[in-house]
Amino acid sequence: MSAMNDARLHSAAAERNREPILRELQRLLPSEGGTLLEVASGSGQHAAWMSAALPHWRWLPSDADARVLPSIAAWCANQPNVLAPLHLDVAAETWAGVPPALDALYCANLLHIAPWQDGLALLRGAGRHLRPGAPLLLYGPFVQDGVPTAASNLAFDADLRARNPAWGLRRLADVSDAAREAGLRFQEQLALPANNLLLVFMRAADPAG
Ligand SMILES: C[S@@+](CC[C@H](N)C(=O)[O-])C[C@H]1O[C@@H](n2cnc3c(N)ncnc32)[C@H](O)[C@@H]1O
Repeated sequence: MSAMNDARLHSAAAERNREPILRELQRLLPSEGGTLLEVASGSGQHAAWMSAALPHWRWLPSDADARVLPSIAAWCANQPNVLAPLHLDVAAETWAGVPPALDALYCANLLHIAPWQDGLALLRGAGRHLRPGAPLLLYGPFVQDGVPTAASNLAFDADLRARNPAWGLRRLADVSDAAREAGLRFQEQLALPANNLLLVFMRAADPAG
C-alpha cells in the first residue's frame, strides 16, 4: 500500500479487483439492503467503491490495524451509508461494536495473510453475528483439491510463507469444513480475475446445520 497526499492509503490490487467483486456483490446481496460488516478493510478503497454502488446497504468497515482506520475514514468521507471504521481484530474473544444480527459479512484477502487461527476466528465470529440466512462473502486466492494451482498463486504462497510461516493460501475444503462447524453452509464459489475466488456461505438457521 502507498500513501496519497492525505490520510488515504492506496492499494493497486484493491483498485484492480474492486469492480469484478462489486459486480458479484450486486448480484448476491438482497436489494432491500441491511447492515454489512467488512472485515480487514485495509486502505478502505473497497468500502468507498462498493458502498457507493450499494446505497441501500449500511457499510461497517473495520480492521485490526488501528493505523489504517484514518485511511478508511478518508476514502469514505463522502459516503452517507458508511459507518465510522471499527477497530476489530477477528481473533478477539468478542467482537465489540459489531451488531448482533448482521445482514452480510464481506472479507477480502485476509485468510492467507493471517494465521489459520485468525481464519477460524473469522468464521466463528461470522457464525455468531450473521442473522440466519445472511451471507458471508470471502474473496481471495484459495487452493482447490483436484484443481492445479496457478503458478502465480504458488509463487504468492511461497512468498507469504517466507514472510511469515503462519501465512499462506488456504485450502478451500478446510475453509468450508471450518465454516460448517461455525454454522455456515457453503453455497457457491465464483471464479474472479487473476485466479481469485469469491466464496459464498450462508448462515444456517441451526448453528449445527
Ligand atoms: C491484504 S490486506 C486486505 C485489505 C482489503 N481487504 C483488500 O482486499 O484490499 C489485509 C488486511 O487484513 C488486516 N488484518 C490482519 N489480521 C487481521 C485480524 N486478525 N483481524 C482483522 N483484520 C486483520 C490487516 O491489517 C490488513 O489491513
